[in-house]
Amino acid sequence: MTTQDELKQQAATQAAAMVQPNTVLGVGTGSTVAFFIDALGARNREEALNLTAIVTTSNRSKQQLEANGFTVSELAEVDHVDLCVDGADRVDHQLDGIKGGGGALTLEKNVAINAHHNVWIVDESKVVDRLGDFPLPVEVLPVSAAQNFRKFAAAGLQPEFRLREDGTRYVTHYGNLIIDLAVSPLPIPQGLASYLDSTVGVVEHGLFLGMTDEVLIAQANGTIAHWTRR
Ligand code: A5P
Repeated sequence: MTTQDELKQQAATQAAAMVQPNTVLGVGTGSTVAFFIDALGARNREEALNLTAIVTTSNRSKQQLEANGFTVSELAEVDHVDLCVDGADRVDHQLDGIKGGGGALTLEKNVAINAHHNVWIVDESKVVDRLGDFPLPVEVLPVSAAQNFRKFAAAGLQPEFRLREDGTRYVTHYGNLIIDLAVSPLPIPQGLASYLDSTVGVVEHGLFLGMTDEVLIAQANGTIAHWTRR
């Protein structure tokens, strides 16, 4: 029986084979991406990829990339990203998805929006017919968090402040808070994204719509489904 980690590793290994030498690579965050980084490192040791630059979306990924011998640049230091490989928390059949389960959504979206090509690597448990079934993360400024929370509650979005293990509020890399919206399925993702985009105090949200070009889905039957945006 294939474990979920084995599925993640299969998708990650296939994505590592897609990386072209002499390019600028974006690397996301999460347990699936952790497998990707190790597979990329192994490939780089066998055939030097001479990547022009690598940018990433969290300290966790940065440390793992460096442990694999890569030098990591800041997003501000590159003028584009050729390929960005990231995981996702949920993905639908239109290749839209929810990200930010690890709290890195703001930088993840910034890297993705600057990438010429975005590939997600997931196991089949992430695939849904309608986006939902996973709390939608919304990063908010601390100064407006209480008002944002009340507004989301009044709109029926079932907000919850994300907490750390010690019960205090989770704080992002940028010093902001995360409100997770538990409503499922999401009411018209494009409408919800517009609403969040125009809400003062919202820094970013985890709806990634129309951004992803390919999804590699590792399936329990041992095959990898390869979805491409039409
Ligand atoms: C990080 O903020 C997320 O967007 C991750 O990419 C997402 O949670 C997928 O993580 P896993 O690969 O650990 O499921």
